[in-house]
Amino acid sequence: MSNAAPQENAQQTVTLTDNATGKQYEFPVLDGSTGPRVIDIRKLYGETGMFTYDPGFTSTAACESGLTFIDGDQGVLLHRGYSIKELAEKSSFLEVCYLLLNGELPNKQEYDDFHHMITIHTMVHEQMQFFFRGFRRDSHPMAVMVGTIGALSAFYHDSLNIDDEKQREIAAFRLIAKVPTIAAMVYKYSIGQPFMYPRNDLGYAENFLYMTFAVPSEPYKISPVMARAMDRILILHADHEQNASTSTVRLAGSSRANPFACIASGIASLWGPAHGGANEAVLKMLGEIGDKSRIPEFVARAKDKNDPFRLMGFGHRVYKNYDPRAQIMRDTCYEVLGELGIQDPLLDVAMELEKIALSDPYFIEKKLYPNVDFYSGIILKAMGFPTSMFTVLFAVARTVGWIAQWKEMIEEPTQKIGRPRQLYTGPVARDYVPVDKR
Ligand code: SDX
Repeated sequence: MSNAAPQENAQQTVTLTDNATGKQYEFPVLDGSTGPRVIDIRKLYGETGMFTYDPGFTSTAACESGLTFIDGDQGVLLHRGYSIKELAEKSSFLEVCYLLLNGELPNKQEYDDFHHMITIHTMVHEQMQFFFRGFRRDSHPMAVMVGTIGALSAFYHDSLNIDDEKQREIAAFRLIAKVPTIAAMVYKYSIGQPFMYPRNDLGYAENFLYMTFAVPSEPYKISPVMARAMDRILILHADHEQNASTSTVRLAGSSRANPFACIASGIASLWGPAHGGANEAVLKMLGEIGDKSRIPEFVARAKDKNDPFRLMGFGHRVYKNYDPRAQIMRDTCYEVLGELGIQDPLLDVAMELEKIALSDPYFIEKKLYPNVDFYSGIILKAMGFPTSMFTVLFAVARTVGWIAQWKEMIEEPTQKIGRPRQLYTGPVARDYVPVDKR
């Protein structure tokens, strides 16, 4: 499925006046299928000799995409036009993978074929297990993920040619299939338990839970509640437009690096606590708060400009309303803890913190709402994952988004290497001074 090409809106242009010279420049305005229009400034430097200046890309569309649409003011998230709420309730992670990669929901045969291709690629090369011996057992799991996923390109030479559509497809299957296997190995290595091989008779989320929590010495009973919750958590994290890690993957891919190396760069970017690392940071923060009585102290710190502390799991570059994923995550939180009969005091702290923050003028004025990371950690903790594995789970889910965005970029006929410029504020040209004259 090809995206609707951006429409140059002949009636709509913008005129830029350089007040220093009085010169005027006109630039076309492009319409997407929905969402903000864009000013096409590709000729700006050539015509004006000036760059735009937008650190953090707060007002910059870096690409055209048809994968995911977010309306931050309305709290809307669509994947190929389908709402995240409907997909979380009615679809499955593998079906969402197919949708993101191919643009349409699969019919029965298409789904079965896709499921089969993922299933037969879940094992990793037997040599992969020896990578782990180079890491300390107490390495952060994300450090191990960055290293081992990047190393996949050392094994799969038959899916590195990015100009071959078949090889791009196999690389996508391998990454979606093997990242959970490697993530489970990362966890097993950290606790000194043997690796569990994937099983072809299990579904995607079930297989991941099996490889993570089963041991060779006894049968492992997969809880349907856990499997459904895991599958839904994967759906909620699958893709999210041009976020920091996806933009990292796109930029890495623009140099024509192989897909395994590009996904490793996305994992590295996701690790940061301002991004995917926030789910781990939320649990640490809730643990530090400890009790509802201490919430006002932490809210005050979050508002204090002189204190670097921020409420983790709150705020978002795009959502200036409730993150729709956070709402679904909160409902799932209740469902999982209720079904597992778990009373977690951290959930009470989280609910009270949300209530207080959402009624505080600072958060209201700055439109700071809970994001996808605010509740996810509580569910993952209840499911038995250690805090250090939370961002690894985010990476397991986001791999399909990264690879779908990478594929879309590579298949873009006008694709070129990404190479931003800068506003230079360093020293202008000067002569070298010998050391005895300094
Ligand atoms: C993810 O981009 C994506 O789509 C990401 C993601 C995805 O699916 O890929 O959605 C996943 O990364 C979610 C975000 C997880 N990060 C956190 O929860 C960390 C805490 N949040 C913040 O660090 C922050 O809100 C960001 C990084 C998420 C967004 O930062 P922005 O858009 O750069 O906003 P900002 O830092 O300019 O903040 C605007 C104002 C600032 O105050 P002023 O300078 O205007 O006075 O709001 C304040 C900030 O100080 N602010 C917060 C805050 N977040 C923003 N104050 C207290 N606590 C917070 N959490």
